[in-house]
Amino acid sequence: MDNPSIPICESSVLEEGGKGIRFPVIAGGGAGTGFVVRYDSRVYAYLNRCAHVPIELDWNEGEFFDSGGLYLMCSTHGALYTPEDGRCAGGPCRGGRLRAITVYERNGQVYWEPDDYVKPTTA
Ligand code: FES
Repeated sequence: MDNPSIPICESSVLEEGGKGIRFPVIAGGGAGTGFVVRYDSRVYAYLNRCAHVPIELDWNEGEFFDSGGLYLMCSTHGALYTPEDGRCAGGPCRGGRLRAITVYERNGQVYWEPDDYVKPTTA
């Protein structure tokens, strides 16, 4: 297999609109983190890199949702992203979006799938 799936956590850890789980990646050749959250019963994962300034979104580890639980929020200047597609929904990310990472659940476990840009830390 070219792109073997990598386990992140158990499905039960991800609560609807709750804390996200971070996982290490290599993105574009550099060390980074991805994160996965649950929204509308589904899991979504993105590269943990704001579209405004390329820094991590969560100031408190795993805190990605805004207080209303409807948007992913960058803690630095408050950029808002829609959880379903990572598009900018407000704030300084204007026109930008989060880089999606393929993620899925199987047998109570959450996995992510590397692609051409986001790769595992140990290949
Ligand atoms: S760095 Fe995320 S909003 Fe500015």
